[in-house]
Amino acid sequence: MGKDVIVACDFASAEQTFAFLDKFTGRKPFVKIGMELFYAEGPEIVREIKRRGHKIFLDLKLHDIPNTVKKAMAVLSRLDVDICNLHAGGTVAMMQAALEGLTREDGTRPLLIAVTQLTSTDQTSMENDLMIHAPIDEVVMHYAQNAKKAGLDGVVCSPLEAGKVHENCGAAFLTVTPGVRFADGDKGDQKRVMTPADAKAIGSDYIVVGRPITAAADPVAAYERCLREFVG
Ligand code: C5P
Repeated sequence: MGKDVIVACDFASAEQTFAFLDKFTGRKPFVKIGMELFYAEGPEIVREIKRRGHKIFLDLKLHDIPNTVKKAMAVLSRLDVDICNLHAGGTVAMMQAALEGLTREDGTRPLLIAVTQLTSTDQTSMENDLMIHAPIDEVVMHYAQNAKKAGLDGVVCSPLEAGKVHENCGAAFLTVTPGVRFADGDKGDQKRVMTPADAKAIGSDYIVVGRPITAAADPVAAYERCLREFVG
């Protein structure tokens, strides 16, 4: 898959989601569905968005014992999503089991990417709560390498980390990066942000963009601007 803009559909209901998606009468954006919408509406929301012709990144961040994750991934694979994810903290064995579960009888499977450390975790909380004492950027790179070792396709990371992830894990290892804002836009609660053009320059494979598109006065125009700046 080539570079693309993934729109984070952080809505609370199917009604709000479809009111938003109905605006896109031309190109159908690649969409991200997170826990809130999935838990509210169940797997039918995934099937309906697929029927409407969108690609889907199902952002459920699985983390459990390998056998449970394997079986859960088999269910997600049958939903025909394009990308799904898990926590690299679940260990290499869990990631390998996830890949096995995702792989269909014909050998095809959705892409699988890992969350390294959440951006809400900082050095202090990692040391105090998780008792991990290495520098956080080393932990992030180690988890990315574990994901690669397990056979995953890439990681979710800050656009600021994308270059280093590619250096460590190879150019083909995907970097999917949230924290994107237009140069003249509102940062909201994101602290470390990059424009779509900068994310492109640094080598992000996919950018995940929520409010700069979903809260724009003209979401279709904002999406198209993102595509122009990121994909070219
Ligand atoms: O609205 P905004 O563009 O900030 O949305 C970014 C999306 O990416 C949200 O769905 C958010 O949960 C997700 N995300 C993030 N930072 C991470 C991981 C995921 O912003 N480190």
